[in-house]
Amino acid sequence: MTTTKLVYVIISLMTIGVVGVGFVGLVTAAVFSKFGNTVWAVNRDKQKSDDLKNGKIPFFEPGLEELVKESVEAGRLKFTTQYSDAISDADVVMIAVGTPSAPDGTADLSAVFGAAKSLAPYIKTGAIVIVKSTVPPGTNDKVREIIGTVTKKQFYTASVPEFLREGTAVDDTLHPDRILIGSNEPAVIKKLLELHRPLNGETVIMRPESAQLTKYSSNAYLANRIVFINQISDLAEKTGADVQEIIRGMGLDSRIGLHYWWPGLQYGGSCFPKDVKELAAYARRVGEGDGLFEKIDQLNENRLLKLLTRFEKAVGGWNGKTVAVLGLSFKPNTDDMREAPSMKVIPLLTAAGAAVYVYDPQASGHAKKILGDSVAKYAVNPYEAVKGATALMILVEWDEFKSLDLPKIKKNMTPGAVFIDTRNLYDPQIIKEAGLKYVGIGR
Ligand SMILES: NC(=O)c1ccc[n+]([C@@H]2O[C@H](COP(=O)([O-])OP(=O)(O)OC[C@H]3O[C@@H](n4cnc5c(N)ncnc54)[C@H](O)[C@@H]3O)[C@@H](O)[C@H]2O)c1
Repeated sequence: MTTTKLVYVIISLMTIGVVGVGFVGLVTAAVFSKFGNTVWAVNRDKQKSDDLKNGKIPFFEPGLEELVKESVEAGRLKFTTQYSDAISDADVVMIAVGTPSAPDGTADLSAVFGAAKSLAPYIKTGAIVIVKSTVPPGTNDKVREIIGTVTKKQFYTASVPEFLREGTAVDDTLHPDRILIGSNEPAVIKKLLELHRPLNGETVIMRPESAQLTKYSSNAYLANRIVFINQISDLAEKTGADVQEIIRGMGLDSRIGLHYWWPGLQYGGSCFPKDVKELAAYARRVGEGDGLFEKIDQLNENRLLKLLTRFEKAVGGWNGKTVAVLGLSFKPNTDDMREAPSMKVIPLLTAAGAAVYVYDPQASGHAKKILGDSVAKYAVNPYEAVKGATALMILVEWDEFKSLDLPKIKKNMTPGAVFIDTRNLYDPQIIKEAGLKYVGIGR
């Protein structure tokens, strides 16, 4: 006979105010409302709020639309443009606004401070203001100061940096590798442990400064891995080695691991470039600027042009050629174009005299707003994009590009066409057998 044990987990539900409905704010709001909390998400754009109330998501993120709709319909997730609505009853306030690079490379914290100023008049006694945005150590002191000049009520601040990845943001938030709770206050820690209990991930309690620096360190380390393997791939090319073989050979060392080795044009996206730049600036500010982070950033920035020059040689010059670019977003499963390699590659190709045809499963609409008529054709599939092209360039590893119909690609391109695989998706031999000239990274 089997007995079933029922384990009851009692979760105390809270009211949460989330400031900012971008990738982090909206996903966080949707996930915490899924657990039964009442979540108010505030942003300044009325149209965006109205769209969200109707379940219209402003960007592509797998699984998010269903999650938002479910919570909105259940009355647990509400959108507003009024801070008074979102903050007055909130036990926990989450600041999830952008922290882009300022022109000098430092993190522009004006949105975080602006949010602190706007929420301050409505904060309730005992509320905890969590900074989820990626910010350098010391930012919480400033947030506390800004709120404290507006209200005499008692409140707390804490750092709970976000580690979700666009493209898998919902799953990452539901099942995080870790949750960092950066606070020195036992009562705050207790409440935040309670709040995060339904999430399926290890929780680490630490000082707020450690949490903030852990976030930057993680992103800089991952960026460094990309820059490192890019350098190794250049060496591989010079010696006749294949970087993919090297990755396997290195990665089987349990200290190194097989994951997260992505040789390519450069790292991009909304986080790595800006976070490496800010870490470099932070190190300089505290008198520890030894140049490591600047070098990572600089090698990354320089690489794209270096590789495009190599591709140009393989194609025999861009001028007068048609080049098909497959993949426009900064990585698969997102339509986010921030710091996407395509945004640099396409202007360089057109400036060199190429006609550029593009295709992306999700990001063409966003790309069109930025690139407009400089792109000769926005194709509806990869085969249309390569019609009459001399070169095809895969910039993003969307699943759709991993099993292209190679005979069809070959048929649609000009004779002697070049297949430029910047994500090393294909075995070079298979491309050669299909009658195309293969150019990869580090092989
Ligand atoms: N995108 C990611 O993958 C990711 C992952 C982890 C951490 N982060 C960090 O999280 C933070 C947010 O990133 P994101 O990608 O969600 O940014 P985002 O640009 O997608 O969203 C930011 C949102 O904040 C809103 N906003 C700005 N100022 C505001 C204010 N005063 N009041 C209300 N709303 C305001 C903007 O309109 C926008 O909707 C950044 O610090 C980022 O580094 C991002």
